[in-house]
Amino acid sequence: MSEAALEVENLVKVYHSRRQPPVRAVDGMSFSVARGTIFGLLGPNGAGKTTILKALTTLNRPTAGRARVLGFDVVAQPLEVRRRISVVLQETAIEQFLSVRDNLLTFARFHGLDSALARRRTEEVLERFHLAPEADRKAIDLSGGYRRRVQVAKVFMVTTPVLFLDEFSTGMDPILKRAVMGYLREEARQGRTIMLTTQILSEAEELCDDILIMNKGRQVARGDLHALKLLSEGVYEVAITFERLPETIEAEIARLAPLRMKINQNTVELTLKAEEGRVLELVSELARNRRVLRVEVSGASLEDIFVELTQEK
Ligand SMILES: Nc1ncnc2c1ncn2[C@@H]1O[C@H](COP(=O)(O)OP(=O)(O)OP(=O)(O)O)[C@@H](O)[C@H]1O
Ligand SMILES: [Mg+2]
Repeated sequence: MSEAALEVENLVKVYHSRRQPPVRAVDGMSFSVARGTIFGLLGPNGAGKTTILKALTTLNRPTAGRARVLGFDVVAQPLEVRRRISVVLQETAIEQFLSVRDNLLTFARFHGLDSALARRRTEEVLERFHLAPEADRKAIDLSGGYRRRVQVAKVFMVTTPVLFLDEFSTGMDPILKRAVMGYLREEARQGRTIMLTTQILSEAEELCDDILIMNKGRQVARGDLHALKLLSEGVYEVAITFERLPETIEAEIARLAPLRMKINQNTVELTLKAEEGRVLELVSELARNRRVLRVEVSGASLEDIFVELTQEK
């Protein structure tokens, strides 16, 4: 049995459509993911995240290269793969004209659970996802956030060893999102491998043991949070709260060419790439002869790393 849960080798996916030039959505990616890992695939819009997820879940066919799930090749053994995975895609369908409960039951039956077990699980999952009050409503009548909730709830009905989630938290309120993140961690502890994509970097920061950042179909960084932070050594977040915001501050900061800048009332927040000593110098220049209520300098967050690695230079 293969050790890795997911193996991708030189994967290429080119989309051809009539009248449009071909799109090289994935341009030679290779990575593998250990079992029991929560693996985060990050990247800006159009980076190729969903395309990779679709290749691994047998929903599209790679143009070149190979992908395996638990040792099974997605092209040669798609049924073996499908039997072992559950998937929430960005645009995952739910059966609009079925009730919430029947959506869950149908999914469980489809995955081969016997009727008694399917019923028991359904009630558990309805409870866990706070869907019990909506159980008898048709999916089509739900709000967008609740529909998303049903989509994500479905994959907790079954215990496939590998779980794929494409932007799972879209439209979820923060309370449910927090709960779902807890469930995902619990599933990983029990040995399930989870691959997710997200645009919300704090989510990845909190959940993922292993992160791959991609852009334009290629890998730009890979590692756990600690490793990624080392990668962007020399990136600092600075927050300065002035008693009164100096009028020229925006121009002064722009001259420092920050990776990011935000001004909120009397507070300026900026992300700088510079040597440590130089950062402190710059901060004291900004603060000189001004009444400053608070200064904070900290190391890079995942968001800084992401911006640094994926922005156009
Ligand atoms: N079916 C398709 N036909 C043609 N081009 C496609 C198709 N699906 C995706 N693409 C293109 O492939 C590229 C990668 O798309 P993909 O959906 O994988 O990106 P993504 O990283 O998931 O983006 P997002 O963060 O917006 O979800 C984009 O340029 C997209 O327009
Ligand atoms: Mg996508």
